[in-house]
Amino acid sequence: MHGRRLATTDRLIVLNSPESEDGLERIQRWAEENDIDVAVVDIGNDIDDIYDPGVPTLGITLGGDGTFLEGIKQFTPHGVPQLGINAGTLSFLARVEIPDIADALDEVIRGRAAVDSRQKLHVKSSGLNTTGINEVTLEHVPPENPFDRKVTRLEVFADDEYIGQYEGNGVAVSTPTGSTGLSLSAGGPVHMPANNHSLQIVPLHTHRLGTRPLVMDASAEIEIVTRGQASLLVDGGRAHKILSEETVVRITGATERAHVVRTSYDDQFMKAITEKLGWGLRGTEDGPRELLTEDIPAKKPTLLERARDIAIEAAESVGEPLRELHGRVEDITYKSDKSDIVTEADHQANRIITTIIENEFPDHSIFSEESEFIEGNSSYTWLIDPVDGTGNFAHGNPQYSVSIALLEDGEPVLGVVYVPETDETFHAIAGEDAYKGETQIVTTDRSSLDESMLLSGYDPDGGFLTHFYNQTQGVRSLGSAALNLCYLANGSADAVWEYDTYPWDVAAGVVIARAAGATITDRYDEEYVVEFGADERKSLLGSNGLLHAELYDHLESSDLI
Ligand code: IPD
Ligand code: CA
Ligand code: CA
Repeated sequence: MHGRRLATTDRLIVLNSPESEDGLERIQRWAEENDIDVAVVDIGNDIDDIYDPGVPTLGITLGGDGTFLEGIKQFTPHGVPQLGINAGTLSFLARVEIPDIADALDEVIRGRAAVDSRQKLHVKSSGLNTTGINEVTLEHVPPENPFDRKVTRLEVFADDEYIGQYEGNGVAVSTPTGSTGLSLSAGGPVHMPANNHSLQIVPLHTHRLGTRPLVMDASAEIEIVTRGQASLLVDGGRAHKILSEETVVRITGATERAHVVRTSYDDQFMKAITEKLGWGLRGTEDGPRELLTEDIPAKKPTLLERARDIAIEAAESVGEPLRELHGRVEDITYKSDKSDIVTEADHQANRIITTIIENEFPDHSIFSEESEFIEGNSSYTWLIDPVDGTGNFAHGNPQYSVSIALLEDGEPVLGVVYVPETDETFHAIAGEDAYKGETQIVTTDRSSLDESMLLSGYDPDGGFLTHFYNQTQGVRSLGSAALNLCYLANGSADAVWEYDTYPWDVAAGVVIARAAGATITDRYDEEYVVEFGADERKSLLGSNGLLHAELYDHLESSDLI
């Protein structure tokens, strides 16, 4: 699944165009049954007065595409994800139908809905500075006298490269979301709009044959210079300006993206355009071609494989919110405000992960560093550290991770560690291989200490650093115990030393490192056991195995253990 999962919703804000009483009644009934607060704002009014950033909110638009676009304008600046309910007639954007409202909202609160990001564009010209979600068009201004010139001429540049001269009706720059409409009116390409961050320049009936639409990355800086009067429209008229000759218009992908909630009740994109545009590609006389699933032998995933996939999905789901909050930390000067963001990061990540796991495995127990123990009735317990490396997070340092382990009868059997800033996912099932993404990882085969690189966690008095710094290639202290173990697994270090860690810091990393070939012991050089339940910190020595005895001897003889 692309996009992140949407896990928590305490409040609905409905942006309502008064066409559908039935839809509104359904939303209100559902909210009451589920004890969720609901506020209704009629189109034309602002949500700013009622939006509370402390309350996890879902934005709903009830209307057609116009209402949906208004929602994008109002919800996006607050980072509120938006679900569009189609109470209009022709709608490409609002894709849940009224009878499906309750089922779609059920999916949202069960953490089963995904959030897609949608590219917006930013347009700037003299007296205009705005964003749009669909397109910017620059077109000729109809002449007062019908014998006058009916075309305009525009010169277009992208990232300082001269694209050319568009002479004719004009040109449009669109996002993937706006591409569907432009394809209908001007023959541009259709882009699948979810998580597609691009822009396209589409000629509007030029005089030159062979002028084709151009697609580029959303970071491209497009400049359009008018060589005659032109009419500029954003999103079909949400902003409008008549430009005089020699005006420069700058268009680029907006950094702020829209977040659109996707449920299984949405009309699928291809189905919607086939039906609404008469696309004609699907549904030939022979009927749709089914996937030949019988050709692929069905293999039912084991519980651990399913748990691994869900844990990866849960961990990766928190990547975007954590990166966003991490980015904000860097802009903040005051420590107390930073700690608010760190707390929000811990709690938001925890809420998303636990909601997903609770929904998928309702009988499993869940222990998270950041919440009360959830007691299930099976032999499985999840052990979660939503943000490991909070110190780094608070300082805007990228080395922090999300750690999720599964224990069976107290024994760690699955580990997933996700690193949001590098988008790396380490994972392993105990007794199998270890992976970073799809690639298998193994520990190093270095056997001499003087060639090795060591990692250390908390190092009281700096004894570990002092002792080993000159005997090795170096000692590094990264600040996330879970990540340290993944680096050992990955071969980025030859050994790891943690003076004292909690079980949730290391449970996932231990599974991953062992599966990659590591030896992991405790202060007595006994096999390291994750003692979950005891609020106890323990020492941990992990290595590639070849260096283990020598490292332990050093630790013992130097009283570091
Ligand atoms: C901490 C980190 C750190 C380790 C500490 C942990 P937190 O976890 O893993 O590297 O040295 O012992 O408590 O507080 O960032 O989740
Ligand atoms: Ca931790
Ligand atoms: Ca933590």
